[in-house]
Amino acid sequence: MTKGIEQETRPGQGAATVAALRTPVQPAAGRGAALRVEGAGISFGDFRAVQGIDLDIPAGEFLCLLGPSGCGKSTLLSAMAGFIQVSEGTLTADGAPVSGPDPELGMVFQSSEALFDWMTVQQNVTFGPRMRGRSRAEQNRVADEFLGLVGLRHCADRYPGQLSGGMRQRVQIARVLANEPGVVLMDEPFGALDAQTRQVLQQETARIWSASGCTVVFVTHDIDEAILLADRVAVMTAGPAASIKSLYTVDLPRPRDESDPAALRLRNQLREDIGEEVRKAMRDQGLDDQLDREAKNA
Ligand SMILES: Nc1ncnc2c1ncn2[C@@H]1O[C@H](COP(=O)(O)OP(=O)(O)OP(=O)(O)O)[C@@H](O)[C@H]1O
Ligand SMILES: [Mg+2]
Repeated sequence: MTKGIEQETRPGQGAATVAALRTPVQPAAGRGAALRVEGAGISFGDFRAVQGIDLDIPAGEFLCLLGPSGCGKSTLLSAMAGFIQVSEGTLTADGAPVSGPDPELGMVFQSSEALFDWMTVQQNVTFGPRMRGRSRAEQNRVADEFLGLVGLRHCADRYPGQLSGGMRQRVQIARVLANEPGVVLMDEPFGALDAQTRQVLQQETARIWSASGCTVVFVTHDIDEAILLADRVAVMTAGPAASIKSLYTVDLPRPRDESDPAALRLRNQLREDIGEEVRKAMRDQGLDDQLDREAKNA
């Protein structure tokens, strides 16, 4: 699914979404869309969550976003999805300002509660194409293709409540992909899953990304997950007014080998870089005592 489409069902959001659907982002043929964020700031009332964000994400790139809890990763991702607007600066997809939800900008949420519980798996996956007036035959093709991609064809007639957490998350991914978006935004999509399911879905994500050529922005707290998946990793500073602290290129062959000395070096660098921001965030939140205890136990 795309949140853009789901947003249609929310009170007061319908008109904006329909307008956005009429002016979709046009991705380059057969490839993902390029995202450009320049001098972007996002505020909630007087609170400035992020500020001075510059990110140039080429079409087809897999970018992972890391940073301390509460620094503004979801906020930035929501702006990329068109759910919220930047308060300053610009945010474009293939040169067009992101001004609202768009099926070209698909969002996978951490929680699979984003699925429509009253619809079958097949109806969830075909929701986007159905809303855009695709024929029944086209809807069936899409369901077959994308449920096949995530290994859930046999669950087409079940309801989300009858699936495991990992299966629901795969349905969510299929629902996003069914719109064939140029950009897939993933907000800690595997955060709530057990290690084994997580590993399978990471491999599946890498495979789907390389087959589809879409652009992916993937938020995670897991450094190893970022090294496994990303072309580049962006680290955010602690908030408020968080910005991009550093950008790392993951220049390692795929499939990635976690025990590669270069991967281990990068992991250490990232741990140090993020650790510094996490400590800042904890101090700002008055959690210094906990930091001291951790230091003593280390
Ligand atoms: N709708 C909102 N209204 C007011 N403040 C908000 C809103 N959404 C987010 N914030 C604030 O913006 C900051 C960034 O929140 P955000 O959810 O983006 O963090 P995050 O990096 O995704 O954190 P986590 O890793 O815990 O998911 C937080 O201080 C949060 O309280
Ligand atoms: Mg978040």
